[in-house]
Amino acid sequence: MDDRILILDYGSQFTQLIARRIRELRVYCEIHPPTTSADWVRAWRPRGIVLSGGPASVYGADVPTLPVDLLELGVPVLGGCYGMQLIAQHRGGRVEPGRREYGRAEIELHRASELFFGFETGERIAVWASHGDHVNTPPRDFELLASTADLPVAAFGAPTAGLYGVQFHPEVAHTPRGTEIWANFVLRICGCEPTWTPGSFIEESVARIRAETGTEQVICGLSGGVDSSVAAALVHRAVQDRLTCIFVDTGLLRKGERDSVERAFRRELGSRLVVVDASAQFLERLAGVAEPEEKRRRIGETFIRVFEQSVQGAGRSAGFLVQGTLYPDVIESQSVRGPSAVIKTHHNVGGLPRDMKFRLVEPLRELFKDEVRHVGRELGLSEELVGRHPFPGPGLAIRVLGEITTERLDLLRDADAIYLEEIRAAGLYDDIWQAFAVLLPVRSVGVMGDARTYENVVALRAVTSRDGMTADWFPFPHEVLGRISNRIINEVAGVNRVVYDVSSKPPATIEWE
Ligand code: XMP
Repeated sequence: MDDRILILDYGSQFTQLIARRIRELRVYCEIHPPTTSADWVRAWRPRGIVLSGGPASVYGADVPTLPVDLLELGVPVLGGCYGMQLIAQHRGGRVEPGRREYGRAEIELHRASELFFGFETGERIAVWASHGDHVNTPPRDFELLASTADLPVAAFGAPTAGLYGVQFHPEVAHTPRGTEIWANFVLRICGCEPTWTPGSFIEESVARIRAETGTEQVICGLSGGVDSSVAAALVHRAVQDRLTCIFVDTGLLRKGERDSVERAFRRELGSRLVVVDASAQFLERLAGVAEPEEKRRRIGETFIRVFEQSVQGAGRSAGFLVQGTLYPDVIESQSVRGPSAVIKTHHNVGGLPRDMKFRLVEPLRELFKDEVRHVGRELGLSEELVGRHPFPGPGLAIRVLGEITTERLDLLRDADAIYLEEIRAAGLYDDIWQAFAVLLPVRSVGVMGDARTYENVVALRAVTSRDGMTADWFPFPHEVLGRISNRIINEVAGVNRVVYDVSSKPPATIEWE
């Protein structure tokens, strides 16, 4: 087993970034809630523990705290922000409330201990700070490592016990040398070997999937997207001809998608494929439904029913269902953070019916999207498949805003196809994380050939992102936008206006529903 780091999440918006930084060092890590017990932690055998920041104050009522004895396990611990304050509180330091402050800051290093290996004592380092409460006095036996003009204790440490705290965020890009600090903690202080790679992930997963599924039949719901393709290829490697892939045409796919998925699958994956046309069933279940979460719930439920019928139809009694669930889906949907808000129940995680007959195999559950792409390449999938933009499970159902009809789906499909065609023609496809058209539930007045029109509005969305967790709108050259708009208005009957979405995530999300 590879060395691994446990991250306890106290609700910081940056917790996922901590995980990413550690995995970039090729060390495996997982995020868990602070309600985890010390016994569980001991059994999980982390080489080090990171306590994230969080919005609470250690002096508040009912605030998340440290699992009992966590600091006595003999495992190095690094606390950031709230995590640091918890260490201070438990070891008798003084935490003081104050005005919350976010932004760039500069720390002055008083002692270049192991955590700041490679830095010079007296050096000033640019960091991203976020402090309200702060540690005023380090606990006894802790050394003051750094301070800022406003903060008496920006970093502290008890090197022999392996306990450290920083009041700033080394995980964000605005802390330019943050990666060195993570490397110092993870590799030097915890002594992890940087051995975690897509290759080792594949080997471990194949062994785990074999053990998990025994001799039973496995089916995989294929969407044609990167995640389910990589999940299928991985499971195929593990269970070979016990895998049957099922591609459901939900009627919510993009133009020509069913054919292109089928072609790519047969060319690259090589396992058994059943294609099911369930569009009528899905559209019937979605009739009259406008609420996004209800759409997701009904789609998730219909998906499973269709699978069950298809499997019976194929005469196989499968016990396992493969899903291409990713780590951000898990975190955003059911939240390892316990009480934090559910943003959207991504249908392949939160919206499954409770009486589902399958056990789930989710081999990508701990991976980020770019890691999935690495694994896909390592498994020999083509760039065409691995480099595809993500496509949500509920498909166009969450891009036809409001109620869904066949006419509205067709209209969106035509507009979306033109949009993607022009993006490819402009050579921009690979610069964009995700691009799609959205059909708005409003109509607008226009004029065409001297006559008044009162027709649909199409919104275009294109974002850059590393993992879908945060995103920025893509700055298209104006002439590309102009060409796309002209073509959509001229070629798609029923559209008289095209708008471009210039919202970042947060506060918007990537999809409109
Ligand atoms: P949001 O809209 O939450 O999207 O910013 C983040 C990423 O997730 C995709 N997405 C989904 N994927 N089921 C999925 O499988 C869903 O219900 C779902 N909702 C959003 C979205 O396309 C983007 O890549």
